[in-house]
Amino acid sequence: MYFTFKKMKKLLTISILFLAIAFSCKKEKVEETTYKPTPYSIRVPAHFPIPEIPAVNPMTVEGVTLGKKFYYDPILSSNGLTCSSCHIANKSYSTPLFINSTGDYISVPPHVNLAWNPDYNWNGSEPKLDHLCIADFGPDFFDTDMDKLVLDLKAHADYPDMIYKAFGVTDVAQLTHDELKQTIVYSISQFMRSMVSADSKFDKYFDHQVGFTASEQSGYMIFMTERGDCFHCHGNPLFTSNDFRNNGLDCTPQGQNMGRYLVTGNANDIGKFSVPTLRNVELTAPYMHDGRYSTLEEVVEYYNSGVCMTSPNIDPIMTKPAKEYGLNLWPWEKEDLVNFLKTLTDTTFINNPDYRNQ
Ligand code: HEC
Ligand code: HEC
Repeated sequence: MYFTFKKMKKLLTISILFLAIAFSCKKEKVEETTYKPTPYSIRVPAHFPIPEIPAVNPMTVEGVTLGKKFYYDPILSSNGLTCSSCHIANKSYSTPLFINSTGDYISVPPHVNLAWNPDYNWNGSEPKLDHLCIADFGPDFFDTDMDKLVLDLKAHADYPDMIYKAFGVTDVAQLTHDELKQTIVYSISQFMRSMVSADSKFDKYFDHQVGFTASEQSGYMIFMTERGDCFHCHGNPLFTSNDFRNNGLDCTPQGQNMGRYLVTGNANDIGKFSVPTLRNVELTAPYMHDGRYSTLEEVVEYYNSGVCMTSPNIDPIMTKPAKEYGLNLWPWEKEDLVNFLKTLTDTTFINNPDYRNQ
């Protein structure tokens, strides 16, 4: 038996067809399991600026989901701590106080619109959210046993699949410990950036959906005009100017009260702190970086009569000519100001199932 040219051509065509089918089937199968995360669009409320999401850690649906799971999971620590131990939902993801290894009291900052923050921590010691929580693996916080974490993650029912889907990592054991920490922190950062607060009574008022009481309206006017002068540093929509100012808390700042200076070493930064957002401030007592005030009434009284005008680098807004003897607010005006601050509470945010552990 011999092949004619015609037969050979037929055979060739058939085998090419076969190959093509086999190849296309294979291709489809590969595509099914290929790492292909879904881009996540962060919610940008109408009157907010566009946040800058670092290109090195683009947000994806899979990344945010993984980050949320890690945020609430003691698997990351050797002592049972989770991020949520200190960042509690009902307190706008803050907690009353933390005492650091040098015995300083630190008021834990809330997670509110972190995607818009240019830097983190009270003195801005950390410029990158994608880096910030790496310190949490250290002895002061999670005290993580990294070798054990690798084994725990590999043996876990969900994590191997979730980590692959979010970052394309097939085996966490192939990452260095630093790479693994970075991967976990990338996912948690994505989750934290997804936490957007813009549904407070103030937002609804601003959008003409609800009215203010007379007292809230009066507080709003005090806040937003030269009367209280709060808006310069805590303006709408983020309620922080996102920079470093000295609002005059200490006449001679010492230790952690030196603030931004401890990061830059620049004497012009003594006493300056990252201006905190006032969104959800009703939920985040105690107040100021060291939690020195327990109530909003105390804070308002501080701005009314307690500012140290001779504090180094005090902000010029605090020492405007008419303010030498304080703001001179009437008792009911102080109450109005507090009532206005409470309109910044966003219960939709703290109850949002996308953020809460449920
Ligand atoms: C033991 C308590 C504790 C735990 C656990 C903890 N934090 Fe914090 N967190 C703090 C304190 C205290 C600060 C403020 C530090 C400062 O400003 O000096 C802070 C600051 C932050 C900030 C900066 C917020 C801002 O507005 O500047 C972020 C973001 C953050 N933590 C996220 C996390 C994440 C994510 C985890 C888990 C990986 C975590 N934290 C675990 C106590 C904690
Ligand atoms: C010059 C800028 C500036 C002005 C003006 C200003 N603040 Fe502040 N505010 C700050 C800074 C900075 C902090 C944090 C200080 C610290 O902790 O050391 C702060 C902290 C606060 C806090 C505590 C928030 C927290 O989470 O602990 C409240 C409440 C507050 N300010 C309300 C007001 C009100 C009300 C006014 C107007 C009467 C006002 N601020 C005016 C800069 C300012």
